[in-house]
Amino acid sequence: MPDISKILAQMTLEEKAALCTGATAWTSTPVERLGVPEMMVTDGPHGVRRSSDVRAISSDTLPATCFPTASSLASTWDVDLLKEMGRALGEECIALNVDVLLGPGANMKRSPLCGRNFEYFSEDPYLAGEMAAGLIQGIQSKGVGTSLKHYAANNQEFQRFSINAEMDERTLREIYLPAFETAVKKGKPWTVMCSYNKLNGIRASEHRKLLVDILKEEWGFEGLVVSDWGAVRDRIASLKGGLDWEMPGPKDYRVKAVVDAVRSGELDEAVLDESVRRILGIVFRAAETPKGGKFNIDAHHALARKISAEGMVLLKNNGILPLKNAQHIAVIGRAAEEPYFQGGGSSHINPTKVAVPFVELKQLAGEAEVTYAEGYPEDDSFQQALIEQAVEVAQPADVALLFIALPSYKESEGYDRPDLDLTAQQVALIQAVCRAQPKTVVILNNGSAVTMSEWIDGPAAVLEAWMMGQAGGGAIADVLFGKVNPSGKLAETFPIKLSDTPAYLNFPGSNGVVRYSEGIYIGYRYYDTKEMPVLFPFGYGLSYTTFAYSNLKTSAQRFKDVDGLTVSVDVTNTGSLAGKETVQVYVRDIQSRLPRPVKELKGFAKVELKPGETKTVSIPLNFRAFAYFDPRYNQWVTEDGDFEILVGASSADIRCKTVVALQSTLDLPCMLDRESTAKEWMEDPRGKPVIEPVLKKMEEGMRKMIGGEDQPSDSLGMDIMGMIMDMPVVSILHFQADAVDRTPEELVDGLLAQARAR
Ligand code: BGC
Repeated sequence: MPDISKILAQMTLEEKAALCTGATAWTSTPVERLGVPEMMVTDGPHGVRRSSDVRAISSDTLPATCFPTASSLASTWDVDLLKEMGRALGEECIALNVDVLLGPGANMKRSPLCGRNFEYFSEDPYLAGEMAAGLIQGIQSKGVGTSLKHYAANNQEFQRFSINAEMDERTLREIYLPAFETAVKKGKPWTVMCSYNKLNGIRASEHRKLLVDILKEEWGFEGLVVSDWGAVRDRIASLKGGLDWEMPGPKDYRVKAVVDAVRSGELDEAVLDESVRRILGIVFRAAETPKGGKFNIDAHHALARKISAEGMVLLKNNGILPLKNAQHIAVIGRAAEEPYFQGGGSSHINPTKVAVPFVELKQLAGEAEVTYAEGYPEDDSFQQALIEQAVEVAQPADVALLFIALPSYKESEGYDRPDLDLTAQQVALIQAVCRAQPKTVVILNNGSAVTMSEWIDGPAAVLEAWMMGQAGGGAIADVLFGKVNPSGKLAETFPIKLSDTPAYLNFPGSNGVVRYSEGIYIGYRYYDTKEMPVLFPFGYGLSYTTFAYSNLKTSAQRFKDVDGLTVSVDVTNTGSLAGKETVQVYVRDIQSRLPRPVKELKGFAKVELKPGETKTVSIPLNFRAFAYFDPRYNQWVTEDGDFEILVGASSADIRCKTVVALQSTLDLPCMLDRESTAKEWMEDPRGKPVIEPVLKKMEEGMRKMIGGEDQPSDSLGMDIMGMIMDMPVVSILHFQADAVDRTPEELVDGLLAQARAR
């Protein structure tokens, strides 16, 4: 690695300005005179989408492995597997001369309608952060960079270039930033991509608080911030805001604007130098990895098959799966012949090969007769004849395998879904086939939740196969025939209906603004707290075996927040097949000053168990597992008190729990002021000892004032103390007849001085 500051010192203003904008759609501007090389980036996230012409935004891309998309990846709950996938992606980047892969995406699934949810991991920031970090670590272990995107608050496609996402600070910190935070701190991505949208009125590409204060300073991000393609409007404002590298290029007018701004004094050259320093650091780092060669197409296809199988979620099974002894299998649905395995937009991969489910099933079906009917057309027209044909094929068979894929135009980058429904033809087809053939298995391909109420009672089994990547056809066969025991668990809730979803009333916004009014209550945080039934809960997924949980222990019953806690539990495979279980640890704050969701995921671990085998799973919980973000202190806060540790097989299937007592080590500043209520004084560690002794007097004063001295306390039919607790102390004092020597304001100021001095 050359001496960056030396090179920087030798660069002209024009060269520095040029370096901060791309030279082409996918490459950086080299400075040959000083040996600064060109760097090539390309999409991402679940495969390498390298344009055959690296200078152009083109749909003609070189073949690469299309791995399953993020919905499927997150359902594996397997960080090591994502690291393995990352290593394979890194190898493909090297072979295709790519320095930085544009992914992963760590945005939250605020609404299942977001058209790009298939590219995102979860509705839960903890899970999404761990998954993103794993993938980044895997890719970067090969000396190839990543671009964590789209930072931040890009949770819909509707007006994604301009929408203003409005949310409160706590929601931002607890829900929309932590996945990025974990990915940055653990994964150390070389680059972070800002999003197109605005956050609270400021464009993400100019958002100094997001890009500098939080990302670079608070989280210690050392790489470069790149714009999403075309996200910059005002280049000078974006440089000041912390956006180092604008893409795509070339844009001579930008280079000129930066030069002019420095010359006129509008832009401090030190700001430009800081961005140049960051870009040089990554460009030279990228150059350290020799590129070229080949990648192992077959090995990566096999890995894609393994990951796809791990991500499949068995939603329903009345015992029909795994398939055994079927002599005649009816395969229905065009997705069996034309697999739907990835979504539309910039992540679209030109696969090296594609496993066709029908072909793969036949390979594992042995001697069985396998018949086929198309079932539904490519578009969403209604064709009764196809349904009748399907019923004829299904009826005489021993079992029907019904492949239902959302039409590809329904899920894409660039626009959101209008609904969560399958097509009318698909619903009618499922109903008709299930009536004719009770042994029907529905296999779903989609990138995010779909509704099923109209038909879920019909099939004997339902397998969620997601956008399963190019090898998914083989993975489906593996799961259906029991070569792989399914172990995927939902990383997003499947609601009963669209109107149940937390953001329903405020999605996708209007007049250029989307208000995140549901706040911290997204996904299961909302459904659980509101006690709403769902179709399939977060964390849910069946196996061909069963697991028992026992012997829950914590490393301590009382502990200090900074020490954290280790939770351990024994998991036993109580069935007759080997299988994997994901143990999930949720934390519930029994009492807190600010409202909190009834439980939040704070740890998980996946274990593999032979029949009868027991393993002890240990899951660490740190300070943050117990803290919430308090905007009043502008920091993560813990409070003394009891927490419930809930260990389960899903968010709705808690198998064991225990209570622990946390001791906060925080020394928070006194935040009381003249308007603070008696209750707020009592909740403040410094205020409590000051107010407690005088509160009784205040109550007596109030009683005199309301009812006269001789009146019983409840003469107005009210709990006087209950009332005064929610009054500002200064207002209580205004009712005190004998507070004559000093004004209530002076009295409160005196109390405040005492509290602050403690
Ligand atoms: C997308 C990014 C992508 C970039 C380059 C943008 O429109 O939002 O995810 O990496 O284009 O293709």
